[in-house]
Amino acid sequence: MLFGGAAACAADAFWIEPGRLSVSRESILCPRLPAALDGLRVGVMADFHFKPDQDGPLVKAAVERLNLEKPDLVALPGDFIDADPAVLDPLLDLLKHLAPAHGVFASMGNHDGWTGKASLIRKGFEKAGIPLLVNRHSALRIRGETLAIAATDHIWLGKPDPAKTLRGIRPQTPVIALVHEPDYFDDLTRHRPVQLQLSGHTHGGQCRVPVLGYAPAKVKLGEKYIHGCYERGDSRLFVTRGMGTTGLRVRFACPPEIGLLTLRSAEPA
Ligand SMILES: [Fe+2]
Repeated sequence: MLFGGAAACAADAFWIEPGRLSVSRESILCPRLPAALDGLRVGVMADFHFKPDQDGPLVKAAVERLNLEKPDLVALPGDFIDADPAVLDPLLDLLKHLAPAHGVFASMGNHDGWTGKASLIRKGFEKAGIPLLVNRHSALRIRGETLAIAATDHIWLGKPDPAKTLRGIRPQTPVIALVHEPDYFDDLTRHRPVQLQLSGHTHGGQCRVPVLGYAPAKVKLGEKYIHGCYERGDSRLFVTRGMGTTGLRVRFACPPEIGLLTLRSAEPA
């Protein structure tokens, strides 16, 4: 029986779970979010580490699912590739079909940055029509309010410049920040509070202990904030467990995830 149980877990972890899409819905109360932006819906996908032969159907299904959900924005906070930049174009050929009302925004992950091919990556995103924000922000007008979408460079061996990223955003303007590595939350929010930081990097641990949810494998800059919602002062953080895998293509009690976040400006009555 023990052997049978272990074999079933291994089959799930190696062959089933890495391709089993899940959707996590979270309602996040964001202090000082203008009332006009109450109910704003943000889709989040990260950490593709794209392997075209194995992950194509998963990403295609995720794009179709997100489009059906009709979010206002989609954020893609990094790790599009694992090591080979040649897989970026086939991935972007899928991601360019995302069609939220107010745009798709991407940021660099450490694996993207470690290729040393930043210009190639930038060109890929330009061609796909998806803004890749690196130490800069973009101002959107939504329902008569300004919303800043900001993103730093990746943190682990990158050149993050939070001052440059946030420069020029008025104090009362709400900010959604894409930062690949979640533990940078404490540093970023020392510069200014952000309504929401969106991160990936941890893969939620990739393999977790069922029921307990404990994630034994930790990654640098993803040890404090591993998966889900967190807060620090007036700032909020959501960490997605991501879509893909790094190292062995294995996931256990931690399936690929689309995050679907509804931002709230006040507690529901
Ligand atoms: Fe990753």
